[in-house]
Amino acid sequence: MASILNAFDSEALQLAAKTIQQGGLVAFPTETVYGLGADARNPMAVARIFEVKRRPSIDPLIVHVASAEEAEKYGRLEHKNAHLLMRQFWPGPLTLVVPKRELVPQIVTAGLATVALRMPAHETALALIRRAGTAIAAPSANPFGYLSPTDAGHVSREMSQQIDIILDGGKCSVGVESTIISLIGSKPVLLRPGGTPVEELEKVLGEVQRFEALPERPEAPGQLKRHYATRTRLEVFSGVEHELSIRLGERIGVLSLGPLADPGRYAAVEVLSSSGNLREAAANLFAALRRLDEMDLERIVALPVPEIGLGIAIMDRLTRCSARE
Ligand code: TXA
Ligand code: MG
Repeated sequence: MASILNAFDSEALQLAAKTIQQGGLVAFPTETVYGLGADARNPMAVARIFEVKRRPSIDPLIVHVASAEEAEKYGRLEHKNAHLLMRQFWPGPLTLVVPKRELVPQIVTAGLATVALRMPAHETALALIRRAGTAIAAPSANPFGYLSPTDAGHVSREMSQQIDIILDGGKCSVGVESTIISLIGSKPVLLRPGGTPVEELEKVLGEVQRFEALPERPEAPGQLKRHYATRTRLEVFSGVEHELSIRLGERIGVLSLGPLADPGRYAAVEVLSSSGNLREAAANLFAALRRLDEMDLERIVALPVPEIGLGIAIMDRLTRCSARE
């Protein structure tokens, strides 16, 4: 059983850092979602992450660092935009994929010659990395394919048996995973929309290509169609379509950006933001999906949100959640 400790307590952090150094697993808060961390230089410790998550070994992990200088030890940040992006967006929800250095074990990158680097904007995460004296490899702290955890309770319900420590830092402020940008080719490519809106990136980079839209896209691990999935079937429907799809007496849960006109018709309704704010909606997304998933519904209907700002990441997660095996 994992010990659940206060993420802002200095002794707890010290114990967690020691656990990382000794090859253990620590779940910790970041501004996006909770991560399941191990020493990024210790292949045995990283192997346990894959085991505990039941994650396929072809899906590489993000290496979390506490500064741009530290990032240099793990990856080659020679792309002309690398330093600009780090200066502008670190610490924060932006992950950069760059050529890896020797120091990163193969298991972390799933054998790729590239590594994903991120400096999180969360005091606990940064303190843990600094005190452990090593970068921390961490995927989201959920069983592979399920919804990412945005509070310590989510982590403890699913992972508590197999990990050593859970640092409880309350609710994550961003709520969706980091945006991932590849700096491997000459032009930056968006691999995953996330907590840093792509519009913000485009202000400094110009137009950013989307992986999905590349004419000849390379094999990319982790670009799984079905992911972030509820156990209950979920469909993304516009208002009218979903009206037409309801069967009499069906237990439906609805996920909506703003309040519904007729909430009484459904077995459950989750409103992501009463004012329709997309940042607030992103922060509430995974917890709302979990609550619906725990209600034994026949179906979850997610109403689409505008695809701007954080709405792009929200729609990406909902679409992947709705994809069939
Ligand atoms: O916000 C986040 O990014 C959270 C927190 C914990 O930092 N982490 C997270 O990790 O979402 P994970 O493992 O759930 O998702 C990481 C994604 C994977 O889908 C993987 O395919 C991609 O990053 N990735 C990692 N290394 C890569 C690489 N070298 N090339 C391309 N994609 C990579
Ligand atoms: Mg994940």
